[in-house]
Amino acid sequence: MKLGVIGGTSLFGTKLLEGAKEKEVETKYGSAYLLVTDELVFIPRHGKATNIPPHRINYRANLASFKLLDVEKIIGASSVGSLKRAITPRSLVVPHDYICLYNIPTVYDDEIVHVTPGLDDGLRTTIIEVSKDLGLDLIEHGVYFQTAGPRLETKAEISVMRNYADVVGMNMASEATLAKELGLRYADISTVDNYAHGIIEEEALDYKKIVEDAAKSRVDLEKVLIKLIEVIE
Ligand code: HPA
Repeated sequence: MKLGVIGGTSLFGTKLLEGAKEKEVETKYGSAYLLVTDELVFIPRHGKATNIPPHRINYRANLASFKLLDVEKIIGASSVGSLKRAITPRSLVVPHDYICLYNIPTVYDDEIVHVTPGLDDGLRTTIIEVSKDLGLDLIEHGVYFQTAGPRLETKAEISVMRNYADVVGMNMASEATLAKELGLRYADISTVDNYAHGIIEEEALDYKKIVEDAAKSRVDLEKVLIKLIEVIE
């Protein structure tokens, strides 16, 4: 069975997607744009033209398209800011839980169903094992705090979040929740691209460094995803 991956546009043009064919899938929530290879069904979160901002991503269509294609195991690859000094930019984190207090998406518009959210432990373990085999130093636990975006957070917001979570991003909780509702397995690997606003007071955020760190984590991320395709059946 093919592996599903939802990721940023940074994975465009990588070996992972060599020879991929474009596909549009119509779902009851709208259409999803996918890139399909022999082993992989990839959804670029920000769409074909890479211009869909986080608050306008059609998460329901994306997840429902996996369901329609019988893709049951999904890895989310997410970009995050660090809420802890010890979690440095360029780290990889495999979150074990998440916080998402608002804008929670659902496929249950016409019936009353309350799923219990959570990330898939089996897939999390596989991500961790594969990364260790590759000699990558990844952080095996973490709480992901989801914001609606597209703006970044205020320092005051981050000072609240840092007490309860380890990383902050704009997508993963929505995807994990919908996957659960649709009976799909989902786990995430987050690449830390920056310290969140105000975490490092004494150092101004250096954008050039953020871009360099992000490019390096993409290389590690791609290695992990290529290996996951080999081991996940
Ligand atoms: N905040 C929210 N989302 C993010 C960040 C951040 O600092 N970095 C990458 N995605």
